[in-house]
Amino acid sequence: MGNVTILVGAQWGDEGKGKWIDILADRVAVVARYQGGNNAGHTLYVNGQKVVLHQIPSGIFQPDKISALASGVVVNPSQLVMEMDKVKPYVTLTPDRLWLSARAHVISPWHIHVDGKKESESSQPIGTTKRGIGPTYAEKANRTGLRLGDYAVASRRKAWFELMRESAPGFAQHFESHAEAWQEFEAAADKLAPFIGDAELHVRKAIQAGQGVLLEGAQGVLLDINHGTYPYVTSSETAAGGAFASLGFAPRHIDKIYGVAKAYVTRVGEGPFPTELKDEVGQWIATKGKEFGATTGRPRRCGWLDAVAMRYSAAISGYDGVILNKMDILTGLPEVKVCVAYEHPTLGRIEDFPWDYEVLAQCRPIYQSFPGWTEELPHGGKISDMPANARAYVAGVEELIGVPVSMVGTGVNRQDALFR
Ligand code: GDP
Ligand code: IMO
Ligand code: MG
Repeated sequence: MGNVTILVGAQWGDEGKGKWIDILADRVAVVARYQGGNNAGHTLYVNGQKVVLHQIPSGIFQPDKISALASGVVVNPSQLVMEMDKVKPYVTLTPDRLWLSARAHVISPWHIHVDGKKESESSQPIGTTKRGIGPTYAEKANRTGLRLGDYAVASRRKAWFELMRESAPGFAQHFESHAEAWQEFEAAADKLAPFIGDAELHVRKAIQAGQGVLLEGAQGVLLDINHGTYPYVTSSETAAGGAFASLGFAPRHIDKIYGVAKAYVTRVGEGPFPTELKDEVGQWIATKGKEFGATTGRPRRCGWLDAVAMRYSAAISGYDGVILNKMDILTGLPEVKVCVAYEHPTLGRIEDFPWDYEVLAQCRPIYQSFPGWTEELPHGGKISDMPANARAYVAGVEELIGVPVSMVGTGVNRQDALFR
């Protein structure tokens, strides 16, 4: 029996991972992020105060838990320092509580510049968060990246600047014309240095010692660089498999894998979204669900739950259970729908999520309708405490996606969680 739990976003991100990591962190010793960077925005409430975390794992507010950033993460140093300051009123951060992987790659002002420029000049923009994520992962794959451990050493940092001057046209000019950003970038190095080390080794040792380890996914499976709706994806491995690659540990240590899904779907940025609602129901969900990006503030596109996409997501990440979140937002709708299959103009009925984004863009959803409920959902307790129609919806979802719903979210707070 393993002692590692992985929690991933099952859709296109923003499913409520932050809240659920905060809840589940109570049961473990270490919480680690394994991919993504400050493109993520994970929201949780500490003593009624809203906090959005972009890089520090969402278990940080549970007493005595260790937080780790593993090799597959990309780190924005000055933003991380700011985030460490943000959590200081609640948490005393010491190097034995925050492990930063020396192997994680660093996002520099140059990467942010390249991301923004590419987006604004492209005829096919992705709608990125413009946080420099794609260019940093590209640099890593190109073996011209800067790892956190190297960034912390002034001479190695300088050597990287030289390498970039030689290899990246425009870098030298950017370095000169954006002196303030580069100064901030350099100034963060000494502040982060005490926290940087062999985070993967520490996590492996914790696993070997039988301590509980919780791995926090960022983004969602449908944004995965390999399995998502490419090119409308992020640049990392968001699915559960990404955790093994990033941390370097044996899959046999896994106890449970959970996929967090909204009881409906949202997507920020460009890309196909078969169940998107461009009508007043979509607007109603967006308003009630406060669907604005936690990182960029952009409005999120909203639609009905997509069981075709969820079955695909479950097949890729192997969920033991799905966490059906934000169920409370659906309260008050006369009917609630789930997409059971797609209809394509030339290919007919489709039940397997297509690899081709053009095909996906042409798919029309085939819906199953469920009666709505008007009663307020319980804030705490059991899934079986919910009103009959809400229970029937959950049972319908389980059948359509082929995975049990282990937990249900009914509000923004830690206690707004229903269990089996
Ligand atoms: P993440 O990126 O997956 O951590 O999700 P975000 O923080 O980007 O977005 C989720 C939003 O929904 C946040 O504003 C949360 O406070 C909120 N939220 C989380 N769970 C629930 C829930 O069960 N009900 C409601 N109404 N809001 C929730
Ligand atoms: P959390 O962890 C939702 C989306 C962007 C864009 C695409 C690529 O809070 O769920 P990137 O900046 O990563 O190169 O953008 O991915 N995206 C997210 N959408 N939630 C996120 O994170 C996201 N992180 C990136 O909107 O479509
Ligand atoms: Mg988010």
